[in-house]
Amino acid sequence: MSGGGSGTGPVGGLPDDDDVVSPLVGDEELDAEASVRPRRLADFIAQHRVRDQLELLLKGAMGRGAPPDHILLSGPPGLGKTTLANIVAAELGTAIRTTSGPVIERSGDLAAILTGLGPGDVLFIDEIHRIAKPAEELLYSAMEDFRVDVVVGKGPGATAIPLDVEPFTLVGATTRAGLLTGPMRDRFGFVAHLDFYSPADLDALLHRSARILGVPITAAGAAEIAGRSRGTPRIANRLLRRVRDYAEVRGDGVVTDEIARAALQVYDVDALGLDRLDRAVLRALIESFKGGPVGLSTLAVAVGEQADTVEEVCEPFLVRAGLLARTPRGRVATEAGWAHLGKTPPQDGRSGVFQGDLFAREA
Ligand SMILES: Nc1ncnc2c1ncn2[C@@H]1O[C@H](COP(=O)(O)OP(=O)(O)O)[C@@H](O)[C@H]1O
Ligand SMILES: [Mg+2]
Repeated sequence: MSGGGSGTGPVGGLPDDDDVVSPLVGDEELDAEASVRPRRLADFIAQHRVRDQLELLLKGAMGRGAPPDHILLSGPPGLGKTTLANIVAAELGTAIRTTSGPVIERSGDLAAILTGLGPGDVLFIDEIHRIAKPAEELLYSAMEDFRVDVVVGKGPGATAIPLDVEPFTLVGATTRAGLLTGPMRDRFGFVAHLDFYSPADLDALLHRSARILGVPITAAGAAEIAGRSRGTPRIANRLLRRVRDYAEVRGDGVVTDEIARAALQVYDVDALGLDRLDRAVLRALIESFKGGPVGLSTLAVAVGEQADTVEEVCEPFLVRAGLLARTPRGRVATEAGWAHLGKTPPQDGRSGVFQGDLFAREA
């Protein structure tokens, strides 16, 4: 938090750990992100149901001296899945081994990880819906019987060597619970769905983060940022850091509502918290496709994004905010969606305004 100077550090240094570090994210940014990440369940803001349930699960297991059931965490990005996985290990006082679905290509990779686990360890598999099929099947027997069969050799001479795995707890995270296979889902003894946070929850989260980062913030300043954070802790923390920059450079360092509004205008975050991509999706839907219905892939091409990104990152919030609806015929803008862009839907009865119950208006 050094004052003065134009603070742009040297660039081009190599990442100093084994994480893939985006060149746009400086070390200071990563430190700030890590320092506000809650380590224990008691510091995890909101999501009270999930917290209560997890606490019971963990305390029950610890009382019995056995690892808890396998845990599945689902929900949109940035709501705390990775944080919770690490909290589970911290509360249990065990080691955590982290990997992700897409990097486990061969079942041998997974067998090596599983047989390397210590008793009671937590294995965290992020994006578990993207795990390759053979690895997934190996995981079944590990989850159920703490045993894996490693196949050695090929063809008729191939033999399966059974290997024991220490009792462990799998924590799986997914942004797409619907893509998990039935057998996979059935093997989790505890499934939690994380939902978007209310502005009041994010308000509490922002006060906590500001305190940790040593950023002076007013109640109105926190409320302003909370309301524009798309219900997402990761975004709330990121906006706080951007507003802090603005407050330090253009103001006296205090994050007020006025400073927050001015800063978020610079960063293209609108009053509902939509960012540039969210608005691009809404605009394409309304301006290029007359409000829909239009298929996901067509919409994604129109904004130059991957269909997955539009579906997993933008849509959940646009739906939640009541701006877009998913219908069997495709994506449709709601009246509020049109209104948000300052437009009125054509009144010819052929426009794409969603007429379902959820957003029905009285005539
Ligand atoms: N309930 C919470 N309380 C406080 N901070 C949170 C909470 N949930 C998430 N965060 C913050 O948001 C960031 C993103 O959370 P993360 O666990 O990485 O999300 P996910 O894995 O679901 O994408 C974390 O760095 C953490 O600081
Ligand atoms: Mg994560």
